[in-house]
Amino acid sequence: MDPAAIRAQEKDRWNYVAAGWKTWWEVIEGWSQPVSDRLVEMAGVGPGDTVLDIATGAGEPALTAARRVGPAGRVVATDLSGAMMRLAAERAAADGLGNIEFREAGAETLSLPGTTFDAALCRWGLMFMPEPVAALERALAHLGPGGRLAASAWGAAEEVPMISMGRSLFSSLLPPPPDPDIGPFRFAEAGTLEGLLAAAGFDDIEGEPITVTVEFAGMADFIRYRQEVSTQDLALRQNHPPEKVAETWATVAEEAAAYAGPDGRVVIENRALISSGRRAN
Ligand SMILES: C[S@@+](CC[C@H](N)C(=O)[O-])C[C@H]1O[C@@H](n2cnc3c(N)ncnc32)[C@H](O)[C@@H]1O
Repeated sequence: MDPAAIRAQEKDRWNYVAAGWKTWWEVIEGWSQPVSDRLVEMAGVGPGDTVLDIATGAGEPALTAARRVGPAGRVVATDLSGAMMRLAAERAAADGLGNIEFREAGAETLSLPGTTFDAALCRWGLMFMPEPVAALERALAHLGPGGRLAASAWGAAEEVPMISMGRSLFSSLLPPPPDPDIGPFRFAEAGTLEGLLAAAGFDDIEGEPITVTVEFAGMADFIRYRQEVSTQDLALRQNHPPEKVAETWATVAEEAAAYAGPDGRVVIENRALISSGRRAN
């Protein structure tokens, strides 16, 4: 499929789920903050730096970087989805962060003439891009010599039950995605993320895993989260009667019961991957 058409679909998809992310961002950030912190650290972000965040979504790791660079620094956060970034801008305003600007832009065609960044970041964005190497090349082109980029992806489906629970059921019930390569587990294989960075021209590449432990007050919360932050529920409703939709989510809840403690809390460990590279000159 044509990359521009995939980007257009991704933009629609993320604009649609932005309302759900608005409901859940505090919970999401509760468990994702260690990933933002590590990305900022691996990219070498420090006070006074100018930082690029690509696919910032609801504003991470841009907001973390904005706190780190302080008032003398600056963060430019970019994403395809205006709706996700409106949430990011609300969060930045609520936190009194005046050093972030938001630009609606596809990462693969990013052009910010006259701006050279000290560091670049991307949390869980590359996997949804039809041309991830082109996106990394654009980021590299905007870095000054010695500038580092750090990006994260997810591990394999079985290592990320939070997202993959019900996966085979959904694929049996829903039409195949337009591009089956695009999805959260795409760069799970060891060395893949590092290979993308190398292909884009980065050197001094490092990679490491990180555990992301998510926690929900109860099963109803977990299922509501899954329904609201992805388009799976919409796709189910578009293709099946309400009873089938309810039955499907009940099956996901049965699968998730393995992660519920005696107090009803649902605690799920997931594996993410982080990689960073440097612009040599
Ligand atoms: C899982 S969200 C991650 C958002 C945020 N970085 C975070 O970690 O919470 C993926 C984001 O990638 C963005 N995205 C997908 N394809 C993109 C592209 N080609 N260029 C820029 N952003 C893209 C989506 O709009 C969405 O906001």
